[in-house]
Amino acid sequence: MNESDPRRPPFEPFKTKVVERIPNPSREERETALKRAHYNLFNLRSDEIRIDLLTDSGTGAMSDRQWAALMLGDETYAGSRNFAHFEETVRSLTGFPHIVPAHQGRAAENLLFSSLCRPGSIVPNNMHFDTTQAHVVHQGATPVNLAVPEAYDPESDFPFKGNVDLAALEKLLSDAGPEKVPLVMVTITNNTGGGQPVSVGNFRGVARIARAHRVPVYLDMCRWAENAFLVREREPGMGGRSIPEIGREFFDLAAGATMSAKKDGLVNIGGFVATRDDRLAERLKEAVILFEGFPTYGGLARRDLEAISVGLTEATELPYLEHRIGQVRYLAALLDDAGVPFFRPVGGHGVYLDVRRFLPHLGDEDLPGQALVVELYREGGVRAVEVGALMFGTSAEGPSRSLELVRLAIPRRVYSASHLAYVAEVVGRVFARRSGVRGVRMVYRPERLPHFTARFAPA
Ligand code: F0G
Repeated sequence: MNESDPRRPPFEPFKTKVVERIPNPSREERETALKRAHYNLFNLRSDEIRIDLLTDSGTGAMSDRQWAALMLGDETYAGSRNFAHFEETVRSLTGFPHIVPAHQGRAAENLLFSSLCRPGSIVPNNMHFDTTQAHVVHQGATPVNLAVPEAYDPESDFPFKGNVDLAALEKLLSDAGPEKVPLVMVTITNNTGGGQPVSVGNFRGVARIARAHRVPVYLDMCRWAENAFLVREREPGMGGRSIPEIGREFFDLAAGATMSAKKDGLVNIGGFVATRDDRLAERLKEAVILFEGFPTYGGLARRDLEAISVGLTEATELPYLEHRIGQVRYLAALLDDAGVPFFRPVGGHGVYLDVRRFLPHLGDEDLPGQALVVELYREGGVRAVEVGALMFGTSAEGPSRSLELVRLAIPRRVYSASHLAYVAEVVGRVFARRSGVRGVRMVYRPERLPHFTARFAPA
C-alpha cells in the first residue's frame, strides 16, 4: 500500500487525551429504540447509538489549544477581548471588514435574509441547504437551485459538482433583474449535493455575471477549508497554494458570507455573518441585537468566540485536512470493495449512499432514503441521515428533487479508522440483504422541515 492508497487507514495527526465510552445497544434494544423513536432517527438518544454519522455539525472534537482558549473567556457583555480576537481572525482569513457573530449558521442566515429579502424576492444558490432554503421561504422569497447538470448524476466523475450553471444564472438575472434578486449565494462545499466542491474558475464566472447585473454574491462558507483542499488537488494551477490563499480566491470576489463555525470552525457551537457593505452591516447589527445578543457576542459565551478563533486556523492546516478528507475516502474505498453504490466522486465531509441504486425495488412512495437510514441503525446502531425527498419535500422546485441520498457524515477528529471499518461492514451487510428491505410511510407530517420531527411506520 502506498501513501495515496485510499485503503490505507489515514494517519491521525493527533493523539487522544480524553476518551468517551461508545454504547453498544443489543439488537433487541435497537428494535425497541426504533419503535419509541417512531422510526425517525432524530428521536434517538445518544446512548442508543454505536456510531453517530447523523451530522458533521458541532459534533467534532476540540483540540487542547481550543480547550485552553476557553479558559481565556472574558465574559464582558460589550467589548470583550475575545470578540476583538475573533474579529481579527475572521478579517485576516476572509478580508471582510464587518463581522457579526451568531450562535450558529441558520442564525446568520436569518440575520442576512431578514435584512436583504422581501416577499417576492428570488435567491439563487448552487443548492440550498435545508435551513437555508427554509429561511429564504420564511421571508416570502423563492429559493432557486442552479447547480450544473453533473451535480444531479451520482455516477459522473466530474470534479466540481458544486459548480453553478453559469448560463442558467445569466438567464435568471436577465429575466428577474436586480430588484427581484437581492443576492446570489454559493455554498462551498455543496452539502446537499454530496459535499462537492466549487472551482475557483466557476466562482469567478458567478462573480462576473452577478457584477454585471449589480447583484452581490454571498458565500455559504461552512465548509470552505474542505472546498479549498479539493480545489488544491483538482484545479489546474492551484496545487502549490495554501488553503488560506485559495480561500481568498473566493472571499475576495464575494460581498460577504454566512458561516456555521460548527463545521470548518471546529467548534460545537457558533457562527457569523460577514459583509463588505457598510450600510448592511448596520442593519445586521440591529438584527443581531434583536435575535441573538449584543454584536460583540451574538448569542455565544465569549469563551466560545475564543475557541472559534483557534478552530478556524486549525481547520486550514494540511495534515488536518489530509486526515479529514482521507477518512471520507477510506470509508468510500471500503464501501466500494463491497460493491455499495455511492455518490461520486466522494467530497469533503461524508459518503452519500446512492439510494436508488442501493434499493432499486423501492419506489419514491416507499421513502427509500428513510427506509435505508432505519435499516443501517437496525443492523449495527449506525445513525445516518436522509438527504432526499424527505429533507427537501417533493413539491419544491428544481431538479435537485431527483437526488435521493443517505449521508454518512463524518464528525471531525472523533472516530478512528476502525470505527469507519465497522461502519463499512454494517453498510455492507445491509447491502447484501437489500432485496428484503421494506419501505416506510409517514404517519405524521409537520408543516416545515419535515425530516426533523416527522413520524414513520414500517410500510
Ligand atoms: N449551510 C450549510 C451548507 C449547512 O450544511 C448547514 C448545516 C447550515 C448552513 C446551517 O448551519 O446548523 O449551524 O445552523 N448543516 C448541518 C448538516 C446541520 O448536518 O449538514 P447551522
